[in-house]
Amino acid sequence: MRILCVCLGNICRSPLAMGVLDRAAKKAGVQIEVDSAGTSDWHIGKPPDARGVAAAAARGIDISRQRGRQFTAADFDKFDLILAMDTKNLAHLQRMCPIDAMHRLRLFDPAGPIPDPYYGGPRGFEKVLDQIERAAGVLIENHVQGGVNAN
Ligand code: 4NP
Repeated sequence: MRILCVCLGNICRSPLAMGVLDRAAKKAGVQIEVDSAGTSDWHIGKPPDARGVAAAAARGIDISRQRGRQFTAADFDKFDLILAMDTKNLAHLQRMCPIDAMHRLRLFDPAGPIPDPYYGGPRGFEKVLDQIERAAGVLIENHVQGGVNAN
């Protein structure tokens, strides 16, 4: 199972989602490969936002070695599940997506979009991390219970 987390810049939400999901999978003993990407080309090659790196580190997750990359059409073939952080990212991916890969696209958190914390303060990153941790728990639980396609 290969999972790709996608946001706009690939420096705030999706690196956090990748780090949290990776740790949750390892803790649960679930075999998952996780990656992240952005729909924009704004931060290619850049490390994650320092506020996110710090917030993740405080929870024992190291995302500092991730580097920004842009989502490409080839990712539709490489990943079983492509999880968008918000509805704008999801719509962007849907416009690019071949019909036969549409079933691989969905929101990271089925409860709703994960708000962009880029223009806010550190508290925004804490809230985003709380939401990501909840959603990652649900994802891993569903996987353990018989595959993420069971939803
Ligand atoms: P992300 O957040 O999509 O969660 O990585 C953003 C990062 C950068 C920008 C916007 C959102 N930006 O405008 O550069």
